[in-house]
Amino acid sequence: MSEMKGKTVVITGATKGIGEAIARKFAQNGVNVAFTYNSNKEVAQQLAKQWDEEYGIKARAYPLNILA
Ligand SMILES: NC(=O)c1ccc[n+]([C@@H]2O[C@H](COP(=O)([O-])OP(=O)(O)OC[C@H]3O[C@@H](n4cnc5c(N)ncnc54)[C@H](OP(=O)(O)O)[C@@H]3O)[C@@H](O)[C@H]2O)c1
Repeated sequence: MSEMKGKTVVITGATKGIGEAIARKFAQNGVNVAFTYNSNKEVAQQLAKQWDEEYGIKARAYPLNILA
């Protein structure tokens, strides 16, 4: 994953479960993360802040509802 350091991945549905685990793994490896949430805006914003601070990357959360 080191070859992706400094690049940005897009991950849909990263507030919990497998999406969160994948996003965190990229962040831990220096990859910026653009990710979506549906109902859990606060959780998404907390995760983005945490990943920014802990891993020194840019993490940003965006709303997405595929049913809307
Ligand atoms: N967990 C398991 O053991 C398991 C096993 C086999 C398959 N799966 C499948 O794998 C997928 C992920 O499951 P998971 O347990 O890791 O997490 P999950 O509870 O399904 O949540 C994953 C993400 O999906 C987002 N989401 C929910 N409704 C959405 C919508 N209408 N539009 C856009 N995003 C939406 C959630 O955002 P918010 O939190 O912001 O609402 C969350 O970030 C699901 O399709 C699930 O059926 C899970």
